[in-house]
Amino acid sequence: MKVLLTGANGYIGRRLKHRLLQEETIYLRLFVTHKQTLSIQERVEIVQGNTFDTQSLDRALEGIDTAYYLIHSMASHNYRELDRKSAQNFLDACIQAGVKRIIYLGGLGEKKSASEHLLSRIETGEILSSRPDAIQTLWFRAGVIIGSGSASFEIIRHLVEKLPFMITPKWVNTLCQPIAQSDVIEYLTLAASLSTHENIMVDIGSETMSYKHLLLGYADAVGLERTLIPVPFFTPKLSSYWLTIMTPVPYSIASALIEGLKSEVLLTNANAVKLFPTIHPLSYREAVNATVEEIKTAQVLSRWSDASGEAWETDHANLADAVFIDRQIIPLGDISAKKVFDTFCSVGGKMDGLDLIGFGR
Ligand SMILES: NC(=O)c1ccc[n+]([C@@H]2O[C@H](COP(=O)([O-])OP(=O)(O)OC[C@H]3O[C@@H](n4cnc5c(N)ncnc54)[C@H](OP(=O)(O)O)[C@@H]3O)[C@@H](O)[C@H]2O)c1
Repeated sequence: MKVLLTGANGYIGRRLKHRLLQEETIYLRLFVTHKQTLSIQERVEIVQGNTFDTQSLDRALEGIDTAYYLIHSMASHNYRELDRKSAQNFLDACIQAGVKRIIYLGGLGEKKSASEHLLSRIETGEILSSRPDAIQTLWFRAGVIIGSGSASFEIIRHLVEKLPFMITPKWVNTLCQPIAQSDVIEYLTLAASLSTHENIMVDIGSETMSYKHLLLGYADAVGLERTLIPVPFFTPKLSSYWLTIMTPVPYSIASALIEGLKSEVLLTNANAVKLFPTIHPLSYREAVNATVEEIKTAQVLSRWSDASGEAWETDHANLADAVFIDRQIIPLGDISAKKVFDTFCSVGGKMDGLDLIGFGR
């Protein structure tokens, strides 16, 4: 099966790429806006472009059976309009190229109460699903994704680890159904070979809980005692500023997420259970434990800031959070600059099938 993965540099895309490469029957092509941000992988073809450049889309979709749509433009102020156009271009190009299936991951939420960000995710799904006569669309919808590097999870982690007492807005009592990132990746992977021909919306998530219990559940899992004090005067704007101070997530993402927290994000259908009976979503506690383990063993495959949008390039706080930086001036005596540079370039290689950064390549 020839598969195109868009958003292959993004948080979900990087992990899905890793998983799809394990599927013998899949021939993978990646669609990225900046080629140089990818490490070269075997069995992978790369097409550079974007959804506003229709020629690059045509190149990317040539001969493709199934196309994953993991694109959003959250970094731009007019993301809603961009995302509508992007989805329409993608749909048109897929139909033109004879693609059989689009697999899209969006967010949970009802149109009537959705925030601007969630509305945009819903609109994208509606556009991608608007031509069932010409192409099938499997539309997955997830709420908070529990995984190291996911923006929502990093917010939870930073708040809980830094603050013994938290004054919180009222929205902490809103209900949600979180899901482990590993389960999201499994649903998306199995979706490629799902035997069905109609458009389907698949809501995915585990147990229902409030955001308050997400915070307290994380504290409990890592052995911390935390107290939450909800107060009525904490506005979304104030909360967003607070998050940008306390966490590495920038204002544009924090405010979009906070806005979304006011409305419940619960599953509205049982298609996940019906269509994917082999997947048993991890509980929140299990997902947190898996995530903490991933961080401890430095196996974090992707972060929310990985997408190559220029908006994050100055996000040094996030870099400092991801790696330990130790700067020292060491006299090198008579060791030549070339020798130092060659040694630096030799760093890299492969570990358990993962590409480490290879400066020399
Ligand atoms: N992450 C979560 O917690 C979460 C939760 C629920 C649902 N979801 C859904 O999952 C999907 C993927 O989210 P994500 O967190 O992985 O996003 P992300 O990390 O922000 O990645 C978005 C990707 O979109 C690509 N992109 C943006 N504009 C493009 C364009 N015009 N043409 C081609 N590519 C473009 C970027 O490509 P480059 O990097 O190449 O520039 C980037 O890799 C979204 O629909 C989101 O709503 C995510």
